Amino acid sequence: MAVSDPRTATVPTLPAHADPDTGRVLDSGLLHELSHAFGGPFHFLLPHRFDAHLAAFRAALRDAGVEGRVYYAKKANKAAVWMERCAAHGAGVDVASAPELREALGHGVRGESIVVTGPAKSDELLRLAVLQGCLIAVDALDELDLLITLALTGGVRPARLLLRRLPPAQRHSRFGMDAAEVAAAMDRCVTAGDAVRMEGFSFHLSGYATRPRAALAAELVDLCLRARVLGLQADRISIGGGFAVDYSSAEDWHGFLADQRPEHYHARKAFRTGDFYPYHSPVAGADALRAVLAAVPEGGRAGLAARLRETGTLLMMEPGRALLDRAGASVFRVQGVKDRGGYRIVTVDGTSLSLSEQWFNSEYLPDPYLVTPAGRAGGSEIHPACVAGASCLESDLLTWRKVPFPARPRVGDLLVYPNTAGYQMDSNESPFHDLPLPPKVVLDRLDGRPRWRLDRRPAC
Ligand SMILES: Cc1ncc(COP(=O)(O)O)c(C=O)c1O
Repeated sequence: MAVSDPRTATVPTLPAHADPDTGRVLDSGLLHELSHAFGGPFHFLLPHRFDAHLAAFRAALRDAGVEGRVYYAKKANKAAVWMERCAAHGAGVDVASAPELREALGHGVRGESIVVTGPAKSDELLRLAVLQGCLIAVDALDELDLLITLALTGGVRPARLLLRRLPPAQRHSRFGMDAAEVAAAMDRCVTAGDAVRMEGFSFHLSGYATRPRAALAAELVDLCLRARVLGLQADRISIGGGFAVDYSSAEDWHGFLADQRPEHYHARKAFRTGDFYPYHSPVAGADALRAVLAAVPEGGRAGLAARLRETGTLLMMEPGRALLDRAGASVFRVQGVKDRGGYRIVTVDGTSLSLSEQWFNSEYLPDPYLVTPAGRAGGSEIHPACVAGASCLESDLLTWRKVPFPARPRVGDLLVYPNTAGYQMDSNESPFHDLPLPPKVVLDRLDGRPRWRLDRRPAC
């Protein structure tokens, strides 16, 4: 969608879906108080959203009559509260490093509810995972050999494992094993005897399409049947993550893509539209799981759900972004405003390291809200401004695009980036310039005055 601007003809806009809970927080006055208290940027988290998404994924499994387990992909956000929610709801967690594993265990998630992914896992991670009874997604033959050695010599058996399949449709992926390697891995599991428990297969597909997921899942079910003939347990498959998040409406998204041009960005920065995250997705979250379960794999007679049921195969999934949809936002204070003729450069009190998309040849596109001490700014005028970080890096822009703000941003106003919990807020954060990492605030209660607490207590 484009709005007209008297100075620069049109300025594209991409509003996020309206979210009443986030709106309530924006209008509560709490954010200015917290900005004053912390003296820097911060993130707020809405854990009830995580609970609702988890319940929706489980309902999709239940409705399809499929036995399944949801594992939260921890890499998507470092907050402790998500581990706490997983522990409270008996959900699993997907970890990819020893510190992530320790975090999950430390917040009460049981080892048997943890799946360990990631390539070429360290000895430390594998040892800890075996000791805690975690399920390990083996990515390569040398990793399998190391794991078998650990299980044989460590005195703790069996090592629970999945074999990770390289998606044939994405053969340039660096993850997983091709058909020959998978066959060799199965033989090695047979030879290892009770040192290992080979529970099935896994994959992670890039992109968000549902049909390729269903097709590859059906192939993994076939692999399970072959493995069972060899005497292996092979009673589950993991289809990884990649359930899309729908940030904005179809009309706004397609209008934005059609309208945006380099002159709409600071320094005429040009992005390839193919590098943008697809900010609108007609099928997203738990509905994407429903679509995967209903899809009929090529050459098959029934949908994936029926195939899973008739073969007694349990379905695992590792959503990250989708469990965090609208479960958090990032808050920055305007620290300076510079006029550049036709638009302004707003400099905020943090950096683009708190908005990871900026570090992948891309831009986090949902419009930030301008929040004044009196609440969300409104008005019919257009005040285009890009948003820069308080660093000495020329390229440190939280938003290169000239966002059409409804009022002139002023020092002391807040910019709130919506829906940042999934991968945006903390994957790239670092204490650059000796700036402290932005704290995270958990909002457990929104009715009346929002009730807040720190996600982690400050270290003493
Ligand atoms: C093995 C694995 N599982 C789960 C995920 C989470 O994906 P998403 O956050 O898109 O659901 C990823 C993401 O790269 C992954 O590699």
